[in-house]
Amino acid sequence: MENAFYITTPIYYVNASPHIGHAYTTIVADVLARYHRLRSCRTFFSTGTDEHGDKIAEAAQKAGVTPQSYADRISAQFRSLWPELAVTNDVFIRTTDPNHVATVRRILQKVHDAGDIYFGEYEGFYCVGCERFYMEKELADGRCPQHQTVPEHRKESNYFFRMGKYQEWLIRHISDHPDFIRPERYRNEALAFLRDPLEDLCISRPKSRLTWGITLPFDENYVTYVWFDALINYVTAVGYPDSDHFRTFWPVAQHLIAKDILKPHGIYWSTMLKAAGIEPYRHLNVHGYWNIDQNKMSKSLGNVIRPLDLKDKYGLDPFRYFLLRDMVFGLDSSFSEEAFVQRINSDLANDLGNLVSRTLTMAVKYGDGRVPDPSETSAADRTLPEAAARTVAEVEACFAELGLHKALIAIWEFINVTNKYIVEREPWVLAKDPANRGRLETIIYNLLEALRITAVLIWPFMPGTAAKMMDQLGITDTSGQNFESLREWGGLQAGSGLKRGESLFPRVEVWAEEVKTEVVRTEVTPIKPEITYEEFEKVDLRAAKVLTAERVPKSSKLLKLTVEIDGERQIVAGMGKDYSPEEIVGKTIVVVANLKPAKLMGVESRGMLLATDAKEGLTLLGFDRPPLTGAKIH
Ligand code: MSP
Repeated sequence: MENAFYITTPIYYVNASPHIGHAYTTIVADVLARYHRLRSCRTFFSTGTDEHGDKIAEAAQKAGVTPQSYADRISAQFRSLWPELAVTNDVFIRTTDPNHVATVRRILQKVHDAGDIYFGEYEGFYCVGCERFYMEKELADGRCPQHQTVPEHRKESNYFFRMGKYQEWLIRHISDHPDFIRPERYRNEALAFLRDPLEDLCISRPKSRLTWGITLPFDENYVTYVWFDALINYVTAVGYPDSDHFRTFWPVAQHLIAKDILKPHGIYWSTMLKAAGIEPYRHLNVHGYWNIDQNKMSKSLGNVIRPLDLKDKYGLDPFRYFLLRDMVFGLDSSFSEEAFVQRINSDLANDLGNLVSRTLTMAVKYGDGRVPDPSETSAADRTLPEAAARTVAEVEACFAELGLHKALIAIWEFINVTNKYIVEREPWVLAKDPANRGRLETIIYNLLEALRITAVLIWPFMPGTAAKMMDQLGITDTSGQNFESLREWGGLQAGSGLKRGESLFPRVEVWAEEVKTEVVRTEVTPIKPEITYEEFEKVDLRAAKVLTAERVPKSSKLLKLTVEIDGERQIVAGMGKDYSPEEIVGKTIVVVANLKPAKLMGVESRGMLLATDAKEGLTLLGFDRPPLTGAKIH
């Protein structure tokens, strides 16, 4: 292992408050930083906010404030959130910081002087959400694949970075350094981008259209393109160009991002560094998305969960544990609060919480309240030391390849081996005969030492729980509790005073849909233009009772219903993914009764039922008490 480690998170846009997607990346970075500190490796961890560009200018305008005060407000939310999530970043960088502005201008000038920036005309499709141009073929049905919005067509004179010039170099660099971009699927994705000729990158915006940005050092009339500005934060944070910090940390830089921003990091940033004469970063680590109902959780899709809501409800360490345990690094994961509660009850309350409380109870009950001396060790006592050595090696290997969920699985295997050790050794039986004292003390010592090892191993993931465990084990000075202290069995000092504490993880008893944490709607689709009451009156809405329901053959979405309004009629509705036929029979729903009949997959539909839009989670309209079937609705 190298003796320096530098980890970065993306700097987050200040157009929206933090959600659990941001929390995940930042907590992963924190776990990596804590792990490296535990290994006595010089560590630097940076995060921050990305504050310039169209997106922020637009959001500020909507809110009726200046971009700076808008950025100040949201940036402060991110800055104050991290300590609440026990995130230990060493720096919080803002792209409006004067030293960052100076670094961006310095690098622009350098690349310009080297002849890699030129003036030209550009025409293309711009997505403000992504703050980048898209090629026509990258769009899905003419829409941005990330935001599902139609990008603006723009034609402007601008400055360009000769990115294309570095295409061959980048392909070679990725091929020569297989773990430059990892996991492999994202390395392949980056190589796939590079199969087509790499176009030059437009790196400016005319001030006539956008003033919220860093003025180009070689043309007062333009500001810097927000990605060219933002990516440079990673070198600003470590004091580019000539601080000791920069020399120590830049050569080992590792970026952590989700797959949405692979292209700017994998392609723009790598070639920007090359052009600026800065050595490439060491690794780009790419993870997947937290989804809600198959959609990425994001402010633009308007379906976010706030990290503090979950922390306040279930506690910080369970929240960190769940995020890290339930996402395979690199793949997408679906957020489910029910799964979260199950993890708390089984892994935390049952496995770890019970182990700690049982062990401490026995240690206090059968001993003198102190860590006993392991005086009588037999061959059978190798079980725990051997399992510990295996676990430590496995955790180390998992960290090397970012398998944080695998590291947790390995630690939990050790917890289970320890639980099994209690069951097999039956200390309560030994305690009945004073002749067994020596054996009993050795067993209790082993259990307490296993807890010490567990506490050190979980510290990067659940620092609060690790600290509570240390406290119960009577370890007041934790400075020696590093990774090295796990290599030899027996680090726990006999004689230290034990302290039985509160249970670490209370079980979450109630689980019901009603107690589910709110998914925050951040953006409501625009309201349609006004209509008159007379226009509305043309729509004949009725209360309709569903008599029968069945799936339309070969369709995953369509259900064929018979409903009663003024007699029976058939309607076809596209809600088969959200409701089963059995669920809907017997309900009284709202139907547009005078809609012109239409055929859906060859089946006639005479009317349309009302429900919320499928994208926002389809819910049928109903009544708070049973109406008369066929009743008119105004
Ligand atoms: N400002 C740019 C990054 C510039 S870095 C030089 C940006 N900001 S962002 O606010 O949109 O943050 C994107 C990042 O937030 C993702 O790459 C990821 O780290 C995190 N996530 C946002 N939504 C997420 C999920 N739904 N799931 C997992 N991570 C998510 O892009």
